[in-house]
Amino acid sequence: MSKKKEISEIPERMEGEREDANERQTITHGYYSSRPKTFDTMLGGYTQVHDADIQESSQLLQSIFKQSNGKLGSSNCLELGCGVGRVTKHLLSRYFDHIDINDLLEDYCQQTRSLFEDDEEKIDQSFVCSIGALELNSFPKYDVIWAQWVLGYLDGDDLVKLLRKLKVTLKKNGLVIIKDNCVANGQEPEFDPDDQYYVRSGEQFYDIAHRAGFTVVKDQRSKLKQIVRELLPIRIFILAVK
Ligand SMILES: C[S@@+](CC[C@H](N)C(=O)[O-])C[C@H]1O[C@@H](n2cnc3c(N)ncnc32)[C@H](O)[C@@H]1O
Repeated sequence: MSKKKEISEIPERMEGEREDANERQTITHGYYSSRPKTFDTMLGGYTQVHDADIQESSQLLQSIFKQSNGKLGSSNCLELGCGVGRVTKHLLSRYFDHIDINDLLEDYCQQTRSLFEDDEEKIDQSFVCSIGALELNSFPKYDVIWAQWVLGYLDGDDLVKLLRKLKVTLKKNGLVIIKDNCVANGQEPEFDPDDQYYVRSGEQFYDIAHRAGFTVVKDQRSKLKQIVRELLPIRIFILAVK
């Protein structure tokens, strides 16, 4: 009789996934740099979900600010994998005074910054590197760290290391917000060899969060799949330091 695998036993290395993180990044870099710098590229060809995505995330931010009764600040945000600034401009800039941005591609960080020429204070630092190589100051700076469709570029162990690094940069009551594709619990993870993106299950996200010293304070299913049925299920996890 087969035995239910413990989460930590589920192999994270997938067919077509390069073992070496640098090799994976080279493929990811090539994938994005050979495509137009558009929302369509950021959304895998489903540009029609942009407005609903922003609206849903905006409602979520409003509700967590309200629930926090003023404890969650709105001065500094860090966005991982900012791409062409789709979320930076249309969501985060409406809620935070200053945003630090990160992306693997320098062009993307530049394009994102260029969206704020009339508000130069909005974008503070740009970190052009893999999320796995981020070097952040360890003083608490961020109220919110936003990671949308980017954490699948790291394997599980590297993601735990990243979250541990992020933990010390969060202010008291600060939150990490993850919006990502998610396979159903117990279902095989998915992997896209074209850009080396790994789609985890909710169980795997919980396990990674706990290993890094976070607790999942909110887990919301996105409505975007109701707009485009071919999309994978999308979930939003809000993590607070344990
Ligand atoms: C699917 S796009 C999402 C962009 C943006 N979050 C959005 O929702 O519009 C993924 C982004 O992650 C960036 N990326 C890929 N690998 C990365 C890595 N290892 N570290 C940081 N950014 C990465 C890509 O360059 C791309 O901009």
